[in-house]
Amino acid sequence: MKEKTLAIIKPDAVEKQVIGDIIQRYEKAGLHPLAIRMMRLSKSMAEGFYAVHRERPFFHDLTSYMSSGPVVVLVLEGDDAIKRHRDLMGATDPKKADPGTIRAAHGASIEANAVHGSDSPETAQFEIGYFFSTTDLVAR
Ligand code: CMP
Repeated sequence: MKEKTLAIIKPDAVEKQVIGDIIQRYEKAGLHPLAIRMMRLSKSMAEGFYAVHRERPFFHDLTSYMSSGPVVVLVLEGDDAIKRHRDLMGATDPKKADPGTIRAAHGASIEANAVHGSDSPETAQFEIGYFFSTTDLVAR
């Protein structure tokens, strides 16, 4: 089933100049970009985006980190896109990520783990709507 998911290329991956490598991995995996935006999140935008984690001990560090430098936000579409993207990213902790995954290749720590991806259809809907309006998404 065709699905959409939200991806974020995080500040560490932008700093490492691997935006192109990551987008190429998406394309090769059949995850087609419908919208791409480079931006710098404010602390409060990062807090709103990660609101589900607000009670977690790492919430302040996570949102400070996500607003510490530019990110690339993308909407990806493809068959089973949410799971496919999560498989491609690998485990949250890069040390536990399978070889060949984006986080194994580019992640430095559980915080600086290169990429974010929506974890369910409900989350994807919220996360896509957080950054893009329907008219931003290209039909393909
Ligand atoms: P992400 O997929 O963006 O979703 C929430 C993020 O919190 C996660 O990736 C990690 O980068 C970050 N994080 C920091 N510390 C932890 C932790 N102890 N457990 C899970 N996620 C963490």
